Amino acid sequence: MTPVIRTVAGLRSLVRGWKAQGQTLGVVPTMGALHDGHLSLVRAAKSGADRVIVTIFVNPTQFNNPEDLAKYPRTEASDAALLAPLAVDAIFAPPPEEVYPPGFASTVRVTGVADPLEGAMRPGHFDGVATVVTKLFGMTQADRAYFGEKDWQQLQMVRRMVADLNLPVEIIGCETLREADGLAMSSRNARLSAAARARAPMLHAAMTAVRQALHAGTPAEEALRRAENSLRSAGFDGVDYLALCDAETLAPAADDLARPRRLLAAAWLDGVRLIDNIAV
Ligand code: PAF
Repeated sequence: MTPVIRTVAGLRSLVRGWKAQGQTLGVVPTMGALHDGHLSLVRAAKSGADRVIVTIFVNPTQFNNPEDLAKYPRTEASDAALLAPLAVDAIFAPPPEEVYPPGFASTVRVTGVADPLEGAMRPGHFDGVATVVTKLFGMTQADRAYFGEKDWQQLQMVRRMVADLNLPVEIIGCETLREADGLAMSSRNARLSAAARARAPMLHAAMTAVRQALHAGTPAEEALRRAENSLRSAGFDGVDYLALCDAETLAPAADDLARPRRLLAAAWLDGVRLIDNIAV
């Protein structure tokens, strides 16, 4: 079985040995509840670094709702079983007090890219992510870190933060893995009822329709309005956002064709908040 490390001291001594031998280290930060999407990040890490650590830490500071934190699945045993065939070098699964010891008083805050969309809907969320990711980089001293494009805004925020703070880690973004019907893989999909699961792929379908409409010359505003209407007709309870943004800065970019654009969405179905994004 993969060794599970609980302390920063234990992690440091393991990593020191690898670094002394000139080996590179890749890290895949996760909150557990692993699925094939995470495993694809691990495979990318395995092919990009000599040693690979998967971190499993349900980070309390990125939850702006205590109920969500309490409900978040903690499935370390089954996560370890899923990782076993991939032969990662270690799982780092610290308890909360190892990451946030008494007296902890620092927060990393990224502005700009972290402000709209998820930043606006979930105040404090990205501060928690930026802080824990900075700490995970410091704790693991990884050379490369692997993040899914599924959380596009998070990925862009981490890239911005690493550049701004001169953190010595290379960020690798990995393509979103999708179910056969187009639904982006996510730990939250397991919470959908059978009926909602059948409707969930409509989110990706509506986004793809926006892309097609834009390519056909439909004005952005109209394409987005049609997509929101089609989601409501498909039984989605609400759309937090469906936005055309600059792919790097996340600034609104409905009609700016000069730079790469990304369509990002968050919508509620059956009490579950689904997010997705595609290039347009
Ligand atoms: O994407 C996630 O699972 C989390 O936000 C991360 C990057 C592991 C930080 O807790």
